[in-house]
Amino acid sequence: MRAMVYRGPYKIGLADKPEPRIEHPNDAIVRVLRAGVCGSDLHLYHGMMPDTRIGHTFGHEIVGVVEEVGSSVQSLSPGDRVMVPFHISCGSCFFCRRGLFTNCHNVNANATAIGGIFGYSHSTGGFDGGQAERVRVPFADVGPQIIPDWLSDEDALMLTDAFATGYFGAQLGEIRELDTVVVFGAGPVGLSAARSAWFLGAGRVIVVDHLDYRLEKARTFAYAETVDIRSHRDIVVALKRMTGGLGADVVVDAVGAEADGHVLQHVMAAKLKLQGGSPVALNWSIDSARKGGRIAVIGAYGPVQSAVRIGDAMNKGLSIRANQAPVKRQWPRLLEHIRAGHVKPSELLTHRFELDDIAEAYHVFSAKLDDCIKPAVVVGEG
Ligand SMILES: NC(=O)c1ccc[n+]([C@@H]2O[C@H](COP(=O)([O-])OP(=O)(O)OC[C@H]3O[C@@H](n4cnc5c(N)ncnc54)[C@H](O)[C@@H]3O)[C@@H](O)[C@H]2O)c1
Ligand SMILES: [Zn+2]
Ligand SMILES: [Zn+2]
Repeated sequence: MRAMVYRGPYKIGLADKPEPRIEHPNDAIVRVLRAGVCGSDLHLYHGMMPDTRIGHTFGHEIVGVVEEVGSSVQSLSPGDRVMVPFHISCGSCFFCRRGLFTNCHNVNANATAIGGIFGYSHSTGGFDGGQAERVRVPFADVGPQIIPDWLSDEDALMLTDAFATGYFGAQLGEIRELDTVVVFGAGPVGLSAARSAWFLGAGRVIVVDHLDYRLEKARTFAYAETVDIRSHRDIVVALKRMTGGLGADVVVDAVGAEADGHVLQHVMAAKLKLQGGSPVALNWSIDSARKGGRIAVIGAYGPVQSAVRIGDAMNKGLSIRANQAPVKRQWPRLLEHIRAGHVKPSELLTHRFELDDIAEAYHVFSAKLDDCIKPAVVVGEG
């Protein structure tokens, strides 16, 4: 089958790979209709993620049709149109039973922090991803869900990660009625967090980025006020000024380890590999939250960060919560919101690429060309 393969930093190709097969009775084989390209894939593409192996197929946002199921699978049958959460979870370990699906203890022998993720390097289990014609889905009774008839493939695709992750970020921030919420990053995840903040009762939402077209989307899609980093000498001072001098009640870091804005941090991370990415957005989050405020970290970071302002966070009495999003937990509520017409997550998809053009998809998304907010890969038709 045709599948995207990693050939080294900034090198993406298409290869002919063996068809995936049922390896365990609870596996399913899914024929892919749509696959997303996520900001997290860009960390792999840029060579920032440890143990990203040559030949690995990325893609953790998957919508498709079940083609084959293992002998123990009960909830799916061939022909079902399904959305597959980006995380692979056993459903029965200590962590899964508590809804911590991204921290599943049974699916990733390579780490004790993160569980399994499709197509996200061997540090999250080495599972091949869905930017391919077919994908093996382990624990088929746990992760995938049959897509209701009224939900489009593309709206479902946004629930497999980006939109649900943004909503999770707003939840992690424990937004209270009329809170002021600042979101760093106007990528698909940040835009989703900003839009979701209103669902949870925010009184004010402010999105920070340095790309005009994304800030424009923050205004039209997330109904947010926007702050362009380039217009301020000190972004923290600007945000404090906008928030009565005290800072925001809640800050969501939807940027992660590849933040722009501090050349030295970037050099320490990307060039010298002295830390797992630049903590600029995290430090700005700490600085622009009010004392006693809350920070939700949904931007992805490597294991070690050497220059995080943890002392300031401690002395300000901040609560910091973080995780990979256990998106399956967000689905019931988000399906209600979409069905009621409160939001259409696929409005964030600006580009569609054929699987044959996967290298172009990565290039356009990574370099933020052609006003790209999020690309989908069109793999098949249902
Ligand atoms: N926690 C999870 O489960 C989860 C799920 C999906 C994605 N992620 C992570 O979320 C982050 C965002 O993903 P995305 O798909 O939106 O990516 P993206 O690359 O499209 O968006 C990142 C945005 O941050 C902006 N940015 C860069 N530096 C900034 C700074 N210092 N301050 C403010 N904005 C800055 C960029 O201009 C860009 O618009 C990534 O780190 C990704 O790995 C986490
Ligand atoms: Zn993702
Ligand atoms: Zn588990």
